[in-house]
Amino acid sequence: MESGGRFERVLLVGFMGSGKTRVGRLLSKRLGWAFVDFDEEISKRTGLPIPAIFSEHGEGFFRQVEDQVGLDFLRASRVVLASGGGWPVRPGRMEGLARGTFSVWLKVTAEEALRRAAAEGPIRPLLQVSDPLERARCLLAEREPFYRKAQAAIDSSTGGPDELAERIVKMMYEMGLGLSGPLPPHK
Ligand code: S3P
Repeated sequence: MESGGRFERVLLVGFMGSGKTRVGRLLSKRLGWAFVDFDEEISKRTGLPIPAIFSEHGEGFFRQVEDQVGLDFLRASRVVLASGGGWPVRPGRMEGLARGTFSVWLKVTAEEALRRAAAEGPIRPLLQVSDPLERARCLLAEREPFYRKAQAAIDSSTGGPDELAERIVKMMYEMGLGLSGPLPPHK
């Protein structure tokens, strides 16, 4: 149940490599809430790592499973959700978020996104092209209008994941809407 005026969930959006998973996990611990990473959930449901889903079944299939994951979790309570970089990119998606959802855009440049994505392991399927930087720049330009619809934006290069998570908690209080339960003590 939504309780009027209170945040029930946080949705992190942003480009690949913007830190959604790391920040989301830390934020969920800080809030004492559950954490769901869309990509992890998609891998769990399909039994395949993300690159294999793209290569074996194509992006269309990946997006279908991703849609379902969104539908299944975007009304859950006391949860932090890290969406994949492509999830918000559809007309009406960000506008249709349920009441009680605090949406936060983690901003990153194409250069930094690529550097982090390369450091994290297997390159994201959408960046497996001859000029990944150009591709990242184009994708980011296409997607920014969707990410921009989030209620808040944080430049992910301005702090480590812990600091970014803490800033989000602070914003939730500053927005005066409160949280749906007390915070566990900060360790
Ligand atoms: C994608 C981003 C990836 C993953 C898939 C597609 C995208 O998630 O969902 O490779 O379209 O930007 P991250 O944003 O967590 O890297």
